[in-house]
Amino acid sequence: MTEDRIGLLGMGAYLPSRVVTNSDWAQWVDTTDEWITTRTGIAERRFAADDESTADLAVQAARAALDDAGIDAETLDEIIVATDTPEVYTPDTSAFVQHRLGARQIPAYDLGGSGCAGFLQALDVARSRARETERRVLVIGVEVLSRVMSLTDRTTCVLFGDGAGAVVIGRGAQAAEILVAVTGTDGSRADILGIETGGTRRPFSPVESPTGRLEITMRGQQVFKEAVRRMSAAAREAVERAGLTLDDVDLLVPHQANLRIIDAVGKALAFPAEKVCVNVRDVGNTGSASVPIALAQAHEQGRIQPGNLVLLTSFGAGFHWGAVLIRF
Ligand SMILES: CC(C)(COP(=O)(O)OP(=O)(O)OC[C@H]1O[C@@H](n2cnc3c(N)ncnc32)[C@H](O)[C@@H]1OP(=O)(O)O)[C@@H](O)C(=O)NCCC(=O)NCCS
Repeated sequence: MTEDRIGLLGMGAYLPSRVVTNSDWAQWVDTTDEWITTRTGIAERRFAADDESTADLAVQAARAALDDAGIDAETLDEIIVATDTPEVYTPDTSAFVQHRLGARQIPAYDLGGSGCAGFLQALDVARSRARETERRVLVIGVEVLSRVMSLTDRTTCVLFGDGAGAVVIGRGAQAAEILVAVTGTDGSRADILGIETGGTRRPFSPVESPTGRLEITMRGQQVFKEAVRRMSAAAREAVERAGLTLDDVDLLVPHQANLRIIDAVGKALAFPAEKVCVNVRDVGNTGSASVPIALAQAHEQGRIQPGNLVLLTSFGAGFHWGAVLIRF
């Protein structure tokens, strides 16, 4: 008899239907399809409809993951939502998701502020909760970044898109086992990427936020270097801690921030390009939703087979990073 494993019982993703191309951006800011494509590898991204908000996207991805796991929302024991673009400031997005899914009155909370690394941090927490408490945990990564981008900063606004991805974590003979989770933080780099207004240091006001929007600020080249360094180090650490090597990994699923960052991580790890999962061309950078969307799409496309070793790696504002190694 197979011993039960702690891991992924199901996964799913949701992308809003509105497609925004590089040519669309060229009409709104001083940019070109050629600049965006060569610097980022992004051709298009999805934007939420005007009447869609974070919880709508999260619930769609959650339902897809629950369907894939073949379980009902009523059997969930905990919900974690990783997002930097919450439904409202308070309460957290998970409260809306718990209600909308028809889940029991279980613990539900957000993991916010970790930027694109939030989903892997949440996965690390969910794995320990499932192991210590036997709970079945729904983990969602979701962003509506189209509502927090600066329309006057052409270098950042063209990068981002909206979307959601989800997984159900729990015990089961068929679970894709989470072998290792590595996460880390270097708060000395907190100033290179973030949304700086809206907190107590710089409350949202006409002075602090003259455009009337929360806006992402970014030092692009510093973020680029940290991203490559941290994602490759975390990926290496994860396989080493599992007593394996990168040669054992069948598929690398990196955060889809930028094709050049993904290529640089592959190069730093001497990892074959054909084993790297890339969807940034079609979805852009969807923040904490990026890794679970790419994972769910790779699974749906049949790129992940039973027995495969899949390595997730990400980085985000903080600076936070993570890597999670999964045996399917
Ligand atoms: C953002 C990024 C693509 C910019 O690329 P870069 O090569 O560093 O570009 P620079 O910022 O040096 O700008 C180069 C030139 O392009 C221009 N430029 C910037 N954005 C532009 C745009 N959208 N369209 C056209 N030109 C643009 C700049 O003004 C600059 O012009 P100049 O040489 O005349 O001064 C790159 O730094 C990057 O990928 N960083 C990581 C970002 C990231 O992943 N953030 C999310 C983290 S979760």
